[in-house]
Parts: sequence; C-alpha cells; structure tokens
Amino acid sequence: MIVKSLSFENFRNLKNNTVYPCENVNVIYGENAQGKTNLLEAIWLFCGGHSFRSSKENEMIGFEKEFFKLKMEFFSEEREQNARILYYQNKKSIKINEVEKNSSAYLTEKFSCVVFSPEHLTLIKRGPQIRRRFIDAAVCQQKIRYASLLSKYQQILNQRNALLKDISRHRELLDVLSIWDDSLCAAGAEILRKRFDYIQQIREKAKEFHLGISFEKEALDMAYLPTCDAKEEDSTEQTREKLRSAMEKSREEDIRFGNTSVGPHRDDIDITINDLSCRRFASQGQQRSAVLSLKLAEAALLSERRGERPVILLDDVLSELDAKRQDFLLNKVCDYQVFVTCCEESSKEQLKNGKIFYVENGEIQ
Ligand SMILES: Nc1ncnc2c1ncn2[C@@H]1O[C@H](COP(=O)(O)OP(=O)(O)OP(=O)(O)O)[C@@H](O)[C@H]1O
Ligand SMILES: [Mg+2]
Repeated sequence: MIVKSLSFENFRNLKNNTVYPCENVNVIYGENAQGKTNLLEAIWLFCGGHSFRSSKENEMIGFEKEFFKLKMEFFSEEREQNARILYYQNKKSIKINEVEKNSSAYLTEKFSCVVFSPEHLTLIKRGPQIRRRFIDAAVCQQKIRYASLLSKYQQILNQRNALLKDISRHRELLDVLSIWDDSLCAAGAEILRKRFDYIQQIREKAKEFHLGISFEKEALDMAYLPTCDAKEEDSTEQTREKLRSAMEKSREEDIRFGNTSVGPHRDDIDITINDLSCRRFASQGQQRSAVLSLKLAEAALLSERRGERPVILLDDVLSELDAKRQDFLLNKVCDYQVFVTCCEESSKEQLKNGKIFYVENGEIQ
C-alpha cells in the first residue's frame, strides 16, 4: 500500500496543501509544535478508526474553521485508488473512489497503517492491562469472531463475580457457581488459545526485527503468562481443564474477595531482552526498540494476512535511539512506505534514500 498524495483543508494547524510522498522512507522534520504529528494523524484517519492520540474529530478542525477535508490517492490492490474524508457539523462523510460510503469500516478494508507513537511505550512500562489490550486488538484484526468472544467472556465474568459476592451470605448458591465456572472456562480457553497463537506468530517476527535494530546484540523474546498452567502446545480441551482446575483451587479465595482471580482477564505477556524483563531492566532506548520491533512485527503479520504491506507511521521514534539504530530504521526497513517524524537535524541527515519534508508553523515544504 502506497500513499501517492495527501491533500488537507482546515486540518488542525496544517496550511491547506497537497504533499507527494515517496514510496520508501519519508522524514517529516521540524521543531516542536509545527504540525508533524498532525500530518501522521491525517494519514492514520484513512484506516477508518479513531485518532491514535485519542482526540475527537471536532478537535481536528482548524481553529475558527467549520469543517476539515482530507483527500488521499493511494496505490493498493494493484491499482490507483482514492478516498476522501469530510468532517462537517459533527458528521463524517466518506467517499472511496468517488462513491459515497455510509461507514468508516469501508476505509478499514481499503487502507491499513501501523502506527508507533510515544504513548505505545506504555506497552512495556505499564501494567498487564495494556498488554492484554494490545494482543486483543491484534487478534480482533485477524479473527472476526474474537471481539464477540471477548464480550461474552466479560459478561460471564461479571455474573460470576456478582454471584461470588452473594455466596458469602448464601452458601447454598455454590452449586450455581459451578455452572458459571463451566461457561467461563469454555470461553476463557478459547481466548487463551487465540492469544497463544498470536504470540507464537508475532514472537518470531519481533525477534528478527529486534536482532536487526540492535545489530545482533539483543535477543528479544516474549511469552504469554497465563494465570493457570496452560501451555502453548495444549489443545483447547486441555486448556479448559487447566483453567477449571486453577479456578477450583482459588474458589475459597475468590469467594472471600468477591472476585475471580484466574482467567484471561488476569493474564500478562512477558517481554524480555537477553532474558531480562524489559519492564524492570531495559534502558529507554531498549524499551523503544522493543516496542518498535513489536510494531514492525505487527506490520509483517498484517501484510501476510492482507497480501499487502501496510503503511508504517513512526512518531518521534528517533529520539533516544543511537545512530546505528536510527540507521536501521531509516535505511533498512525498505519494504514498506514509512513516515517518520523527527526534530533533530542529525537524524534527517542519516537518510540515504527517501524524501524529506520540512514543517514550519503548519507549512510543509
Ligand atoms: N484544531 C486545531 N487547529 C489549529 N491548530 C491546532 C489544532 N489542533 C492542534 N493544533 C496545533 O498544532 C500544533 C502542532 O501540533 P503537532 O502535534 O503536530 O506538533 P509536532 O510538530 O508533532 O510537535 P512535537 O515535535 O512537539 O511532537 C500544536 O501546537 C497545536 O496547538
Ligand atoms: Mg509530534
């Protein structure tokens, strides 16, 4: 997938303009607060989702303007295509190849990006919930039924938790708990299998990217850490049994606390570099490289699934990376169209083959 041109009108601080990126690396360079991330955000919107900065669409309309309009020409499915997003009076209207569409989902089918922004570092720095969200979002892209499986699990979990609270007063309800446990373990085992599968797929690719970025010095690894002793090689049936037995073991404790302590809602993903926990021991640059490797691996998996490479958007990745790592990103990730923002003059000079856009006060040159 290649962005051929991007036009914007009244979008954030960007001056109305059309830019023509190159097919490989595009460096967007400039001082702070000039509009570099705004440009990436404009491209990202063509994936049909929400802003990667969790902004609302009406905040993207240029100050004192009434609408914003973005147009993109891109090469995909072996032909030139175009899309247009118009946001006016709290409504988004979308046209793809000049045909009006009633849902953003059509954009998702047509155009895909993988984005890295500094907020993604929370994937390593923060608690397990963010990592579970990352893997669930990725599996959702691969398997249509997964989102409804997750919500079914959450529903059963809520009901089980409510029952646990009642049981401390009405022990006769224990029999009912067993029924909820069966359903929870059945849905939970399916979730576990899908997550194990995804980790297995992304792990090898992330390892490979990380070896590249660290010039063979660092072995990145990741493992799924379930709260029961399910293993990668187990069948769904075995996983269900193991989940069930862990749940039985923690039953009294669960009743005491009125909460379910085992299951996919409590699992985590362990990310290590040279066998040391990234969260506890990795340097800033190593953490950044690890998340980047994960993101590039996500892009590689997406290419396999869609038969087409997504566009890669890298916001502010170059800071904290040494010259060798910057060189890898700017000059070795050549199979993809990449957009990368940076502030330092030195980073832009590392680019051997690509295009440089200078952004000043919303003006792109
Ligand atoms: N709706 C809007 N209308 C006009 N200007 C806006 C709007 N939303 C944001 N801005 C302005 O856009 C400017 C540039 O934002 P952007 O995040 O793109 O900067 P940047 O070049 O990425 O900077 P940094 O290097 O600090 O990340 C900000 O100063 C902000 O005030
Ligand atoms: Mg920025």
